[in-house]
Amino acid sequence: MLTQLTVSNLRNITKLSLQPISGINLILGENGSGKTSVLEAIHLLAMGRSFRTRSLKNAIQFDQQQLQIIANTSSETPVGLQYDKNNGLKIRLNRAPLKRLSELAMQLPLQFVPANCHQFFEQGPRYRRQLLDWGLFHVEPSFNSHWQSYKKILQQRNSALRQHKPASEIQLWDAHLAAHGEAITTLRKQQLERVLEQFSVLFARLCPVYESAKFTLKYRNGWVKGATLEQALSGSLVRDQQLGYTRSGSHAADWSFKINDADPIEMFSRGQQKLFFLALCMVQARMAEHSNRDRSILLLDDISSELDVKHQQNVMDELARLPVQTFVTATHFEVKSSGIIKMFHVERGELR
Ligand SMILES: Nc1ncnc2c1ncn2[C@@H]1O[C@H](COP(=O)(O)OP(=O)(O)OP(=O)(O)O)[C@@H](O)[C@H]1O
Ligand SMILES: [Mg+2]
Repeated sequence: MLTQLTVSNLRNITKLSLQPISGINLILGENGSGKTSVLEAIHLLAMGRSFRTRSLKNAIQFDQQQLQIIANTSSETPVGLQYDKNNGLKIRLNRAPLKRLSELAMQLPLQFVPANCHQFFEQGPRYRRQLLDWGLFHVEPSFNSHWQSYKKILQQRNSALRQHKPASEIQLWDAHLAAHGEAITTLRKQQLERVLEQFSVLFARLCPVYESAKFTLKYRNGWVKGATLEQALSGSLVRDQQLGYTRSGSHAADWSFKINDADPIEMFSRGQQKLFFLALCMVQARMAEHSNRDRSILLLDDISSELDVKHQQNVMDELARLPVQTFVTATHFEVKSSGIIKMFHVERGELR
């Protein structure tokens, strides 16, 4: 978690320093004042990328050459990020250049809840896999090595397919790819079973109208039912050769929780969909706390979008009970919190 944050030349923020608390940090301000930009700065620092733009040039303040974000963590590890129009991105962790982004993810575990997170169900499976894999990365140490190996082998197999290599050369990769893919599937299912257990309880508190609903796990491996991944890869070789890439595997998996045997998107209102997404993030943050030494960070942009005051209250009560450092933005705030809140008022990119 962060103990200090300084942002320079990011969007409308020329220079802003704040000392967040370990609980709930509430960032208030009018439309366009710079609230989401503060979250963007934290996201950029913890993940090495923005949630708003692929090209960081757009995030640099107009007429400036570079943006800078500097922070300190509760473990006294300084983190610094600089993006310069000419020299690109530089990140320093504990006063040394960063080698891998996963080091940063380990140091500053972060989940981002966008204002439109209710679209979780409509978006592609990649988004749902990312959410699940975030939890696994922090909870299950072997997951990352399986995933890194899987990705590398998949790239090599795809490259062989693109170059129209003979079938025997493509199939060289299958056994290894399948071994890691099967391991990933097992870990993902285990994690989802654990998430589901806690999710049912937490979601009932956020959304009491579904207090007695029954949630069940729906998981799609990413390859044909009833086959092993190795069999599926072999069975779809001709199709893969035509496509020029590997279609089946853990990179094509998807999951959801069914509610009373129906898909949430067919049952839930938009506010309920937002609460569903929030509950997933909260459960994973709680699980990650057991394996990380430090609190993870939860960014919640625009709490009031899609949620009425009563349900915002439920969210705040739940956040107050969670072992996470939260940054919540809102244009106005009518909710009482049972926890300790520190408020920051932003006006034209400055703290007021
Ligand atoms: N590169 C840039 N340089 C300067 N200003 C920028 C840049 N990009 C965006 N802005 C402006 O920065 C301001 C901050 O936007 P931000 O999205 O952080 O506001 P917000 O407080 O979250 O507003 P809302 O309540 O509408 O979500 C906006 O006025 C935006 O137009
Ligand atoms: Mg905003």
